[in-house]
Amino acid sequence: MKNIMVTGGAGFIGSAFVRYMLRQYDYNIIVFDKLTYAGNLDNLLTVQDEPRYKFVRGDIADRETVRRTLEANAIDTIVNFAAETHVDRSILDPDAFLKTNVFGTYVLLDEGHRAGIARFHHVSTDEVYGSIPVGAFKETDTLEPNSPYAASKAGSDMMVRAYHVTHGMHTTTTRGSNTFGPYQYPEKIAPFFITEALDDRPLPLYGDGMQVRDWLYVDDHAAGIDRVLHDGLPGEVYNVGGDNERHNIDVTRLILKLLSKPESLIRHVEDRPGHDRRYALDCTKAHRLGWKPQHTFEEALAETVEWYRRNEWWWRKIKTGAYLEYYKAQYAQRLAKAGAAGG
Ligand code: NAD
Ligand code: TYD
Repeated sequence: MKNIMVTGGAGFIGSAFVRYMLRQYDYNIIVFDKLTYAGNLDNLLTVQDEPRYKFVRGDIADRETVRRTLEANAIDTIVNFAAETHVDRSILDPDAFLKTNVFGTYVLLDEGHRAGIARFHHVSTDEVYGSIPVGAFKETDTLEPNSPYAASKAGSDMMVRAYHVTHGMHTTTTRGSNTFGPYQYPEKIAPFFITEALDDRPLPLYGDGMQVRDWLYVDDHAAGIDRVLHDGLPGEVYNVGGDNERHNIDVTRLILKLLSKPESLIRHVEDRPGHDRRYALDCTKAHRLGWKPQHTFEEALAETVEWYRRNEWWWRKIKTGAYLEYYKAQYAQRLAKAGAAGG
């Protein structure tokens, strides 16, 4: 490995991975990103003067640009973070999820194969397995995705598998759990609730708030991807989870506590349709490669809250324009109804 193309490297986890890889190794990192609403060059400000880093604006579903970028930079490795990533948006408007997550991943695989790259790492999610009431998913479990987002990610996982089996490509896949940390677009629960609470605004908690997610700090996720990229076996899938299950209501309460804000900001609103009740991963396989999360949930969440408190310059300008349109479509009616019902 020498020249790594990181697709979606201007997003939340992709940018953390770029910073991590430039710190750890001597590789050249070429970020390839469409800069959708979620892509943000502010996430890469700390590496912009690094000579081993380069940014290319492009769409993974655009074959010509992918091909040119692979050739021009003698890419030998692709790490694919590029995706539409928000479940609620996939319910409102799924088109882009199919175009990017399914078709885009196929284009990357196909062009990577033609170019004869040495490795293709695909970043996937625990959501492809669906919901699990007890126990934890293993990599061999059946995929039963329940949202358009999860279904599109499952589609991309299957295409990665097909290119390994059919063409012998050296592929690896990680399925990560819910990730949190600095630079996360404020639509996902942690940054959304932190930034709303900072402004004393209501926190719309779906349903009873007793859904369970497994939480993983972003730098631990980046390290897990790095471990599998280097040591994972070709064609294999690795679960990368935090072993940190929390009910949504408890995460919400902890955020409020860390900000010294009252629990009266919580509004129980109409649930997300098809809402998965619980995610949990068995990560024995990744642990055997020598990876384990290094951060405790409580400490990492406290640091994360502090980061948003100190970095208003980063999130205030995001929460304008099209963001407010999305907020209205997703929450206005829900909050109005919850208000009428007394919260
Ligand atoms: P994000 O939404 O913050 O960033 C996605 C990035 O992809 C953005 O920079 C965006 O501009 C780029 N992008 C979107 N469509 C593109 C296209 N067609 N061509 C090129 N670039 C495009 O996402 P994230 O939370 O950092 O997630 C990164 C990856 O990790 C995704 O594949 C996601 O499915 C997976 N994942 C995320 C989580 C999580 O909790 N956030 C958990 C497990 C797995
Ligand atoms: P989210 O951050 O959207 O991640 P995912 O859906 O990929 O797990 O949501 C995490 C959990 O928080 C999920 O159970 C849905 C819930 N949630 C709310 O209750 N209210 C919200 O406004 C959001 C965005 C999420």
